[in-house]
Amino acid sequence: MSMLINNDTIIKDDNELIRKKSEDVSLPLSSEDKETLLKMLKYVDDSTDNEIAEKENLRPAVGISAIQIGIPKKMTAIILKDSEGKKIVEYALVNPKIVSESVEKTYLSTGEGCLSVEKEHEGYVYRARRVKVKAYDILQDKEIIIKASGYLAVILQHELDHFKGMLYYDHINANAPFYEDPEAIVIE
Ligand code: NI
Repeated sequence: MSMLINNDTIIKDDNELIRKKSEDVSLPLSSEDKETLLKMLKYVDDSTDNEIAEKENLRPAVGISAIQIGIPKKMTAIILKDSEGKKIVEYALVNPKIVSESVEKTYLSTGEGCLSVEKEHEGYVYRARRVKVKAYDILQDKEIIIKASGYLAVILQHELDHFKGMLYYDHINANAPFYEDPEAIVIE
């Protein structure tokens, strides 16, 4: 399999593979799995560098999961940067699992996007405002607990949905895509 990850090789939602459930990854991580996950992390990092992104045909992203490159394994890479491009969050996670989540909901005012979705699907995606995720992080080389809220919590839930073959627009209320839940906290 080609390890080149760009907008041409990323699996889109017209390919039924994107609906495939991902499997747990055995630890210690094989060198092949580690290489895959590091390539995914590099994609996310490079994707927000305008020059590299244009040259290599990368769509900007904050996260990518392995099924999006055709590998049904529970691995995801996430990078959040501040307005100066400095990394404020960086994870390369193996077998991440939500161990608890808040009842309180949140959603992005702009809706969500996904590297595997090219057509626009407008509407709000309600998610838990806070999640606790247990995972093995290859960057820290240990099992970690991530206590996330707000945007990071949204990203984690979006990426972990990919392990179930779910896409963000599966959560949009088809009859009332912009229904505003008064109890939910909006993220602008
Ligand atoms: Ni996605």
